[in-house]
Amino acid sequence: MKILMVCLGNICRSPLAHGIMQHLAEKKGLNWQIDSAGTGNWHCGKAPDSRSIKVSLSYGLDISTQKARQFQLSDFEEFDHILVMDQQNYKDVISLATHQEHINKVQLFIPNGFVPDPYWDDTQFKPVYDLIYARSEKLLQELLKSEEGAIR
Ligand code: 4NP
Repeated sequence: MKILMVCLGNICRSPLAHGIMQHLAEKKGLNWQIDSAGTGNWHCGKAPDSRSIKVSLSYGLDISTQKARQFQLSDFEEFDHILVMDQQNYKDVISLATHQEHINKVQLFIPNGFVPDPYWDDTQFKPVYDLIYARSEKLLQELLKSEEGAIR
């Protein structure tokens, strides 16, 4: 299973989703490939925002070695699931798609909802971490079920 987490800058939300999902998959012994990207290119090559690193470390998770990159067209081929943090991310990613199969791979990380951008508010990093963690646990179960369904 190859999963790409996408937000705007790839420094706050998607690095958290990337690190948390990778951790949960490893804990289950799953050989899943998780990555993250931003629709924007401002932070390419940079480590995650220090506040995302700090909140993760407070839970024992080190995301400091991640490097921001921009979403690229080849990601539509490379990944099975492209999970976006909000509606704007959804619009931006979909606008690059050239095939319906690509569009079908793109989903909101939180169905019918969104992960608020904590970039402008230091107090939001912990609630955003908790939101992403809780959704990641459910998502992992859903993806495991869909994988079983695909095998049958
Ligand atoms: P992210 O948050 O999309 O969760 O990584 C942001 C990071 C940077 C900016 C906006 C949002 N920015 O404007 O630079």
